[in-house]
Amino acid sequence: MKKISLIGAGQIGGTLAHLIGTKEVADEVVLFDVASGIAKGKALDIAQSSSVDGFNVKFSGTDNYEDIKDSDVIIITAGVPRKPGMSRDDLLGINLKIIKQVAEGIKKNAPNAFVICITNPLDVMVMAFQKFSGLPANKVVGMAGILDSSRFKLFLSLELNVPVKEIEAMVMGGHGDTMVPLPRFTKVSGKPLLDLVKEGKISPERLEEINQRTRDGGAEIVKYLEKGSAFYAPAASGVQMAEAYLKDEKKLLPCAVHLNGEYGVSNVYAGVPVIIGKDGVEKIEQIDLDEKEKKEFMHSIDAVKALWEAASKIDPDLS
Ligand code: APR
Repeated sequence: MKKISLIGAGQIGGTLAHLIGTKEVADEVVLFDVASGIAKGKALDIAQSSSVDGFNVKFSGTDNYEDIKDSDVIIITAGVPRKPGMSRDDLLGINLKIIKQVAEGIKKNAPNAFVICITNPLDVMVMAFQKFSGLPANKVVGMAGILDSSRFKLFLSLELNVPVKEIEAMVMGGHGDTMVPLPRFTKVSGKPLLDLVKEGKISPERLEEINQRTRDGGAEIVKYLEKGSAFYAPAASGVQMAEAYLKDEKKLLPCAVHLNGEYGVSNVYAGVPVIIGKDGVEKIEQIDLDEKEKKEFMHSIDAVKALWEAASKIDPDLS
């Protein structure tokens, strides 16, 4: 019997619950939210959809942390999303306080869970969660790379008129304006993307526009929605990570993890390719970045470090 608890039952939390249900990723889903009515209402609504769609999953809503006991996986989306004109970093102060409360609740009630953080600013929030909770770093990960890669893949598929499934791609670094799409490691129907550039199927300028649209992928959606940020693709990405852990898939996925010397970086959370299986982060893959990619990656790490400094000033428990 597998149990997933969702801390935050807003746009992403509700979508996560529905996806986990329809895909039967777990046997039980607990939606936790300070706004308990939202958690309870969504749990009931999704449970009622199971009679239509025929999935067999138990749903409940709560604002009591004791209900998350014995969770196998916890996905955190508690926090405030951005509004048009805001960067993810603008959410730092408010979401840091929320993550501290969440860390206390999880530490006390479900310290053995595999925890996936989605709350922004992602890399700093997941790192703060790990520090506040003291949970082992291999069981605390951030969801960003799968989402950023999914955006990169979609934009390439639209440009090249190729199904998304035919595209393999990876985005590394922090989940912010400095993230690093990696065209050199991208394949289209098994063929290196850079070969398509050489053949004139896509110009270097167009490719750079796609890299930039990927970096701005979240903001593009915030601008349309006006009242919140993306939730379908973030939820789908979170479910993929939960499944990799619960089913011991040993899948290679870009995730925000604690770096301990890998890529020449220590004591920072950032997006890199990792193997996720029953032990959480089982391996950090070190891909061979060229000088330009390394420079961009380190620039992104510097941005995460600067925001971490700001977080440590807000909450001295982090320093
Ligand atoms: N504990 C639990 N839940 C909380 C807390 C808390 N301390 N504070 C706020 N929440 C809940 C809110 O009540 C709300 O239902 O978190 C939920 C957040 O949902 P939305 O506002 O719909 O935001 P969502 O789009 O789901 O995004 C959540 O993920 O991608 C990031 O940037 C995004 O930081 C944001 C987070």
